Amino acid sequence: PTRMIIDADTGIDDALAILFALRSPRIHLEAITTCFGNIATEQSAENTLRLLELAAPERRIPVALGARKPLVRPQREYAVHVHGNNGLGGVELPTSRQQPVEEPGPELICRMARENPGQLTLVTMGRLTNLALALELEPQLPTLLKRVVVMGGTVFAPGNVSPVAEANLWGDPEAADRVFSAGLSLTMIGLDVTLRTRITRSHLELLQLKAPEAVQPVIRFMQESLEYYFDFYRHSNFFMDSAPLHDPLAVIAAVHPELLEYRPMHVRVDCESSLCAGMVVADLRPIPKVGSEISVAVNVREERAVGRFLSVFE
Ligand code: BDR
Ligand code: CA
Repeated sequence: PTRMIIDADTGIDDALAILFALRSPRIHLEAITTCFGNIATEQSAENTLRLLELAAPERRIPVALGARKPLVRPQREYAVHVHGNNGLGGVELPTSRQQPVEEPGPELICRMARENPGQLTLVTMGRLTNLALALELEPQLPTLLKRVVVMGGTVFAPGNVSPVAEANLWGDPEAADRVFSAGLSLTMIGLDVTLRTRITRSHLELLQLKAPEAVQPVIRFMQESLEYYFDFYRHSNFFMDSAPLHDPLAVIAAVHPELLEYRPMHVRVDCESSLCAGMVVADLRPIPKVGSEISVAVNVREERAVGRFLSVFE
C-alpha cells in the first residue's frame, strides 16, 4: 500500500477524504497534520481526532497541529458558510480519547520523511502553509518525499473564491508559490477535475443499503454533514444538486492515478495582485519561460472516480 501523510483543514470534504484513506486497502495512513482554512487549526485537529475515533479508534494515527495563519498575510475569514461553524456541517461527533501529538505538523512531516526516505506520499487538502514551512526546515524534502499530491488551484475552470483563484491557494498564495517551485514531484488536483467529480444524495442512499452494519455510523456521518455541503452548493453560484469531492479526489489520484489525465505545466502562483492573488499562472507557450514544472490533472473519469470512492464503504 501507499504510505501516506495527509495535511488537512478538516472540513466536510476533507473528512470524506480521510474516511476514504482509512478504508482503502491501497493506503496506509501514517499521520495527519492540520492547518487553518475551512476552520481554525485547533478545530481542524479536533475534527480529525473525532473522525478517527469514529472510523478507526484502534489505529491511533498521530494528529499534529500545524500553522495557524498564512506565511506573510493576515488570516482572513474561515469558510464557515461552506462547512458550518464547526467545519463538519454542525454534526457533533463524540469526543476522542486521543490527544494531538506535541510535535508541530511541519516538523512531523520533516521527521517522518527523514526516517523513511523515498517512501511517503503527502496529500495536501488545505492551505500549503505546513508544507512551505516544512520545506524551510528541511531543504532536502523534495528528495525525501516520494510524491506530493495537492488538492488546490485551477487552470482552465473558474475559481471558487475569486474569478481566478481556488480556496486553498488563495488562502496562502506565498506558501503555494514556494511549494510549486520547490522541485517536489508534485501533482495538482484542481477545480478543473474536482468540480466534475460529484457525490449525490442517491449515491448516499445506495451506500446506506450496501454498507455493512459496522460502517453505518460512518455513512450516517457522511449523510448528515453532506446535507450542509449540498445546501451550500445548491445556493452558491455553482447551482449544483450534488457536491464536488475536492479533497477525496486528491487521495484517489494518489492511489488510482489512471483515473485522471495529466499535463506537465510550468506554473507560478500569483502573489502580487489583489485581483488575481492565488491564481495559478500556467505558461502554456511552446517554450515556457515562467515557473517550474509540475503535473496538472486536466481530465478525470469522474464516474469511475466516484465509484472508487463509494466502493471502500460497501
Ligand atoms: C478546497 O477548499 C476547501 O474548502 C475544501 O475543503 C477543499 O480543500 C476546495 O476549493
Ligand atoms: Ca480542504
